[in-house]
Amino acid sequence: MSRVVAITGKGGTGKTTISSLLIRYLVRSGKRPVLAVDADPDSNLPEALGMNGAKDLGTIGGARQEFFDSKGDIPPGMTKEACLELKLNQVLVESKDIDLLVMGRPEGAGCYCYINNVLRNHLEVLGKNYPYVIIDNEAGLEHLSRRTAQDIDCLVVVSDYSLNGLRAATRIKELAAEMNLSIGSYFLIINNTPDTVSPQFADEVEKTGVPLLGFVPQDSLVPEYDIERKSLMDIPESSPASVALEQIAHNLFNHKGT
Ligand SMILES: Nc1ncnc2c1ncn2[C@@H]1O[C@H](COP(=O)(O)OP(=O)(O)OP(=O)(O)O)[C@@H](O)[C@H]1O
Ligand SMILES: [Mg+2]
Repeated sequence: MSRVVAITGKGGTGKTTISSLLIRYLVRSGKRPVLAVDADPDSNLPEALGMNGAKDLGTIGGARQEFFDSKGDIPPGMTKEACLELKLNQVLVESKDIDLLVMGRPEGAGCYCYINNVLRNHLEVLGKNYPYVIIDNEAGLEHLSRRTAQDIDCLVVVSDYSLNGLRAATRIKELAAEMNLSIGSYFLIINNTPDTVSPQFADEVEKTGVPLLGFVPQDSLVPEYDIERKSLMDIPESSPASVALEQIAHNLFNHKGT
């Protein structure tokens, strides 16, 4: 059965970095193929995964818009649903270990109910082909309320080393509860931490009530790879962020019911 893990948190905290390194862990430990979903309209997961060609194939949002604009202009002999399914299938980028879906922009004005219903169903059925689905989200919570959002087994909230980041993490959990979202469990990762984490900060982490998966230290190689457009899949295993993520991923995927 496939497990859906969504990564969320405020802007710039390291969601894409953490998503990529979790995907790398899954691939390396044989839990593949992984379905990676880039759900950030300002998509950059493809670069982080070294799948730069992905954007040329288009996005789910683009396929949805194209279908919407065609106003029922379906090729003869094809049902409306099959035509939409075909378009949605065309944007799946397949590689040996990772398949990637770039969601793209949300819908424009108009009624997209029919399309979104087909899309939700499409994502659900597609996801069943993979042991794990990892979703890299845009900042904030809006994405969770979209009708296309699927059930989530585990929501991983990424915070930076700041009280503001922790407050955002608490808010995300509260909002998700208010919105009655189907989320199995919540975890917290603190990213970009200094060498020593202050006891006061550790106390504040505990007060969030969101179980902590671990701290990921500041690692100069991470932004260097980003700037040089190198894939995080190739970052040395000995790099501090990589070492921390290895342990976090091990705990997440083997011991936390995920
Ligand atoms: N552990 C780390 N050490 C040093 N730099 C890091 C670390 N994690 C992430 N970064 C850097 O911080 C920046 C933001 O990271 P990233 O893009 O993963 O965040 P994000 O939460 O996905 O951002 P956005 O909200 O824009 O999608 C990048 O330049 C990345 O290289
Ligand atoms: Mg990102």
